[in-house]
Amino acid sequence: MSSCYYSYPWGYPSSPITIASLPNGAQVAFLARHGVAHSVNPSAVPARANIAALSSIGVKAIIAFSAVGSLREEIAPGDFVIPSQIIDRTKGIRPASFFDGTSVVAHAMFGDPFDTQLVNFITPLIKEALASEKRQLHLDKTVVCMEGPQFSTRAESLMYRAWGGDIINMSVIPEAKLAREAELRWDLFPSPRYVFDVVRCSISFTSPSSLASYALIATSTDYDAWRVGEDPVTVSEVFKTLQDNAATSRRVAAAIIEHVHDIVEKDTVLTNVIGSMRFSIVTPQE
Ligand code: ADE
Repeated sequence: MSSCYYSYPWGYPSSPITIASLPNGAQVAFLARHGVAHSVNPSAVPARANIAALSSIGVKAIIAFSAVGSLREEIAPGDFVIPSQIIDRTKGIRPASFFDGTSVVAHAMFGDPFDTQLVNFITPLIKEALASEKRQLHLDKTVVCMEGPQFSTRAESLMYRAWGGDIINMSVIPEAKLAREAELRWDLFPSPRYVFDVVRCSISFTSPSSLASYALIATSTDYDAWRVGEDPVTVSEVFKTLQDNAATSRRVAAAIIEHVHDIVEKDTVLTNVIGSMRFSIVTPQE
């Protein structure tokens, strides 16, 4: 087990990255999005530094976990959800592009915000892991990402349902957007400082990696605020279910990681979106 924590052109990541080696040779990196002590507010998560840090140490696929509220009766607290779509309700205050502040204009393809190839691969593995736990898994759902930190009003919650939202969180944006951009051309960036920092890290890195592969495993903690006659969500409700879900999430992660490593190793191209950034840059390049 080793750990690294370096500064990138976009600052420090939310937490040191812990790297573990599994018996089959897989290396797994773990980063705590909200900090080790959960001290980073959703709006303040340094998502660019997080994605840059993971990409620069050679991570090829991100499987993100997130607690979510449910906007649907059938998605009960304790259920797991793998979304396929996102509705972005963040307020534009989170830096959401690696190209901000550069002279490059780029429009990443984002119609399918998650890597469908990775999602299709992990789905049966997750199903199997959850079967023995008697937990439901819901597929092909839409996650609404709100700014927070306050939860939604009842009217907002009902509106998200009417829009087709199935679950709600505060963290998938801009993470998913940045993961898509992260196969961008690192040589376009103003400061190559991260290269120096990464070299000092203790495992050998193949920097930069092609990191465009991102999937979300969501765990439902509450029914948000739309249910008539029921109290709207509170943080104590979220944390209580979150703790119940955490052990299952760890078992799910353990059940899929080695297999993901196998396809990462076998496929030089894990994702069907790698290469798309080449066609997303508008500014003429020399
Ligand atoms: N995370 C967990 N529950 C949530 C909710 N109801 N709204 C937003 N983010 C959440």
